[in-house]
Amino acid sequence: MADLSEVVRNRRMSRSFTTEEVDSAAIERIISLASRAPSAGKAQGWHVVSLVGDETASYWDATLPGQRRDDFTWPGLLRAPVILVLVADPDAYVERYGESDKAHTGLGEGRDAWPVPYWTVDASMAAMVILLAAEDEGLGALFFGPFGATERVREALGVPPSMEIVATIAIGHRDPSVEHRGRSAGRPRRSVDEIVHRGVW
Ligand SMILES: Cc1cc2nc3c(=O)[nH]c(=O)nc-3n(C[C@H](O)[C@H](O)[C@H](O)COP(=O)(O)O)c2cc1C
Repeated sequence: MADLSEVVRNRRMSRSFTTEEVDSAAIERIISLASRAPSAGKAQGWHVVSLVGDETASYWDATLPGQRRDDFTWPGLLRAPVILVLVADPDAYVERYGESDKAHTGLGEGRDAWPVPYWTVDASMAAMVILLAAEDEGLGALFFGPFGATERVREALGVPPSMEIVATIAIGHRDPSVEHRGRSAGRPRRSVDEIVHRGVW
């Protein structure tokens, strides 16, 4: 097991996978670690629709039908043996913040009361743990959006209308024979000085 800074530095999005299966116990460990991610009011209103092996076809049929699949830049992504669709439940947060210890925040009044949607924040925190845990397991992973096909994914996977589909994470054994760098990879990483506004913006 590597130390945290090593895992963070080594993690890179993987966009092509081998056909090797992923041990289901590894996915179990990854999700179990993610369940320790920070969560607003400990509402933990995030879910994962897990697709393994042949089940992943429904995701690709919804997102990359026909010609779109033929033209897709990363054909090896479709070999990912595991697809996790991350779903957030806004109502879990509205409900939690309506409880007596949180009612003073006013956030229990409804989704519109939230200046920052903590359901998306929580799901993102969990996603980060999933990406790091996959790296720690020696697996590759890609965090990506459902290619503008959110509603088709919702329908294919039976995700209730009240839920927010936040992202997809593909997990598998990284294909060593291809260059995984996406179009954005050449952009320079910002320095600490560019990021931090000391004292005032
Ligand atoms: C919110 C979000 C959406 C992303 N969507 C995609 C995507 O649709 N396709 C893709 O190939 N990579 C996607 N990425 C990966 C980024 O391109 C990648 O994290 C960035 O270029 C830095 O590379 P690295 O993560 O390998 O260090 C996404 C990352 C985030 C955080």
